[in-house]
Amino acid sequence: MPNFIAKKCKNLTLPFEKDGVKFLNLLKGRKVDFILTRANEELFFVTVKKKDDAYLFKGEKLTRPAKVGLLQKALEILRDEFCSEILNNSINFNKNSLTKNSSIIMSELEAIKALNGREKIAIEIGFGSGRHLLYRAKNELDKLFVGIEIYKPSIEQVAKLAIKQNIENLVLVNSDARTFIDLVGSNLVDTIYVHFPVPWDDSPHRRVISGEFMSEIQRILKVGGTFELRSDSRAYVDYSLIKFLDMDGVSIKVHKNRDLEISSKYEDRWKKQLKDIYDVWLKNLVKSGEKSWKDRLKFDILDINLVKQNFRHKVTKFSDFFLNFEEIYEFDSGELLIKLSFGAFDTPGNYFIKISKDKTEYFIAKPLPTDMNLKAHEKVKEQLAKWQIL
Ligand SMILES: C[S@@+](CC[C@H](N)C(=O)[O-])C[C@H]1O[C@@H](n2cnc3c(N)ncnc32)[C@H](O)[C@@H]1O
Repeated sequence: MPNFIAKKCKNLTLPFEKDGVKFLNLLKGRKVDFILTRANEELFFVTVKKKDDAYLFKGEKLTRPAKVGLLQKALEILRDEFCSEILNNSINFNKNSLTKNSSIIMSELEAIKALNGREKIAIEIGFGSGRHLLYRAKNELDKLFVGIEIYKPSIEQVAKLAIKQNIENLVLVNSDARTFIDLVGSNLVDTIYVHFPVPWDDSPHRRVISGEFMSEIQRILKVGGTFELRSDSRAYVDYSLIKFLDMDGVSIKVHKNRDLEISSKYEDRWKKQLKDIYDVWLKNLVKSGEKSWKDRLKFDILDINLVKQNFRHKVTKFSDFFLNFEEIYEFDSGELLIKLSFGAFDTPGNYFIKISKDKTEYFIAKPLPTDMNLKAHEKVKEQLAKWQIL
């Protein structure tokens, strides 16, 4: 993350504008201050933290702009206009970073939009080195392939290979498949591949396949769409078959030691060790209802003074998620900004809520409308309502 440390800084008199970057507001917090900044229509925060007897300026992680160059440019302006005695300068601005943005790599919501109007869609979960995914995309040009991978270096490596090979029917998303699948519309997908998932034989609850996950998989598959599990772990296959047999409206096929046109890195390793390889194909036979999560991340109008008066730092744990009200900030205009985090214990998210006189809303980055986030959002609303009491 680009940053700099300065020993001396003048008072920031805002708003201030230079070279298309607007510094709009200073929000004072207990430990960190935020500078609300706008560049190229993107809104983000620069944070200022007092560190020993110097000031550390850097981007705020949650609102970081898509093009890192915008943040670097903002930091350069703050450094040159307001600060002196620079102790550390790690901004690394170069003009390319204002335009660089690989179009194959998308956020979850961008990828969901990319599915609109596509007739044939395939998803690979945990594509690793991408051998199978790239091969399929190159050979099935009438389909849009979406690769979901939790490990970021794999995303970057496979994006480079896809660009080199001019593959255009491919989208890569750095996400937990369990979150992504929740967001996909019903009855849209032709094929979902999960090849050689991490077996987690000692902690089965960490496996990507679960009863809940499979009902979401069935919801997004077309009638006749298939979910294809390929694994060398007999324990994983037995476990999955039990889950599949609990489902209604599906048919199941099992193969042993079937050769595919393309062999993945893991597969090569197991084949050398003469291990058996199992395929379990689940075909969906029923049409699913639409999910109605639109507009469910809204707030009621709140009284600013009561929230300001009653706000407390507060962590609440529920059976499968938590809620952490972290900090409150005030704009010059009197509007409030609450920083909070919530979500599943292993995939939490950080958010801001802006409270104005006539509107309360998630600020800059909205939570993804996953089932877990919708549940947490209801609890956020309950807590805010409790702070409405005199
Ligand atoms: C054992 S590797 C197999 C990779 C590839 N399918 C192959 O056959 O070579 C499992 C992959 O799944 C990814 N993965 C694990 N859990 C995931 C999740 N919840 N969502 C997306 N990817 C996940 C891992 O990062 C890893 O790349």
